[in-house]
Amino acid sequence: MRFLSTYQTGARRCCTMLFQKNAKSIRATLMSTTAAAEESRKIVKEEVFELDGRKYTPDALYNLSPGVRRLLDRRILQESSNPLNLLKRRIVDYVHQTYRKPGNRSPLFTICESEPRVVTTYQNFDSLLTPEDHVSRRPSDTYYVNHEHCLRAHTSAHQHNLMQSGLDAFLVIGDVYRRDEVDRTHYPCFHQIEGVRLYSKDELLGKKPDGKNVAELFSTAASAATERSPEKQEKHTLDATKAAEIQLKQFLENLCDELFGKDAEKRWVDAYFPFTHPSWELEVFYNGQWLEVLGCGIMEQKLLESAGVTDKIGWAFGIGLERIAMVLYGIPDIRLFWSKDTGFLSQFAGKMPGEDVKYKQISAHPQVIFDISFFLPSTVQFNDMTSDVYDTIRTVGGELVEQVKLTDEFENKKKEKKSQTYRIVYRSHERALTKEEVNVIHKQIEQSLASSFGVTLR
Ligand code: DAH
Repeated sequence: MRFLSTYQTGARRCCTMLFQKNAKSIRATLMSTTAAAEESRKIVKEEVFELDGRKYTPDALYNLSPGVRRLLDRRILQESSNPLNLLKRRIVDYVHQTYRKPGNRSPLFTICESEPRVVTTYQNFDSLLTPEDHVSRRPSDTYYVNHEHCLRAHTSAHQHNLMQSGLDAFLVIGDVYRRDEVDRTHYPCFHQIEGVRLYSKDELLGKKPDGKNVAELFSTAASAATERSPEKQEKHTLDATKAAEIQLKQFLENLCDELFGKDAEKRWVDAYFPFTHPSWELEVFYNGQWLEVLGCGIMEQKLLESAGVTDKIGWAFGIGLERIAMVLYGIPDIRLFWSKDTGFLSQFAGKMPGEDVKYKQISAHPQVIFDISFFLPSTVQFNDMTSDVYDTIRTVGGELVEQVKLTDEFENKKKEKKSQTYRIVYRSHERALTKEEVNVIHKQIEQSLASSFGVTLR
């Protein structure tokens, strides 16, 4: 994890939150192999840099490669067939259903998905109390537009503004950017969900029958406990910290149960982040190993105060979506999230957020695509035909069929004719198929449909 790996061990931070670092030399080998890669490293600085409807003036610090600019244009989190979109909806649906405003009529957490991706260095670093000399500020680690602006390196960059605008409970979801290694689990762009919840004294600590609070949020100068300790910040009472910790851990354990199942083993590990204290990471035992799933903690009171919040305390957490999606859906390589191959996307298209989906490795060979169109026998309904078609294509085409999709359906009422078109994507795991050999199989499918179900080919 970014802050953990740098603050605790002094090692170079790693890119995709929650992933352990890997040799940087991999980047060198991968990037230098092709001329295209060479091209993608050339920095082209324009007069004006425009993103998300805002304009910025690049200066000498500008270091966005054409490669990363291309990534900015593609919003994979919004693509409904992308597994990250599926996972995002699963988390949002769960949080919306579980946490409601008093009266149960509306969700407690506001979802913030369209924050601008260029942020100020104040938002990305200073507001979060990142030390002045921290490695993450280096241009070798962060994408800078100019001295004051960079691409957000984490969704935490929006905490300050959103609290300032008055939100007490929110999730910030989005793509974040870091210059880092290139390997199976690291990519310059990845996706995070940030969660923040603030509590007033009454909300966190409740009231006694006499109307007084059971405890206080803040320690007073008169009390002995005004020092920072491993358990708490100087301004907080131990009671308030503990109460917030219980709320936070319960929230995250329940979310984890929702994603990994109630039986998955979990453990809390002490951690360090500049913007929370105390801080933890949650690990889940999955497929034989402990995985860091998220980082979290009690928000530094200074952060709240700088955002104008003086009478509340809060918790925050950050989750890396790729890591969880790779585990949940069995996706072996982070680059697959950017695949436009329908062999990949079709496995997630149309799925419900709660559904169990396991990714099946797609072939590296090219697809061959053929359509099939026919009129149905007059007595057969559209729906009945579809299952028979899918079965027949599977039976005749076997392992060479990667996808089948009903692409068109219409009924000519006057002529009493019903027609359907299916698109079949053929692809072999072993070799590149030729059009000619696929055509032979395709013809067999057509014949089989005609003889078994009486369709008339068009
Ligand atoms: N921003 C951290 C990162 O990118 C993740 C994180 C950790 C967010 C702890 C939090 C938190 O809100 O409390 O590595």
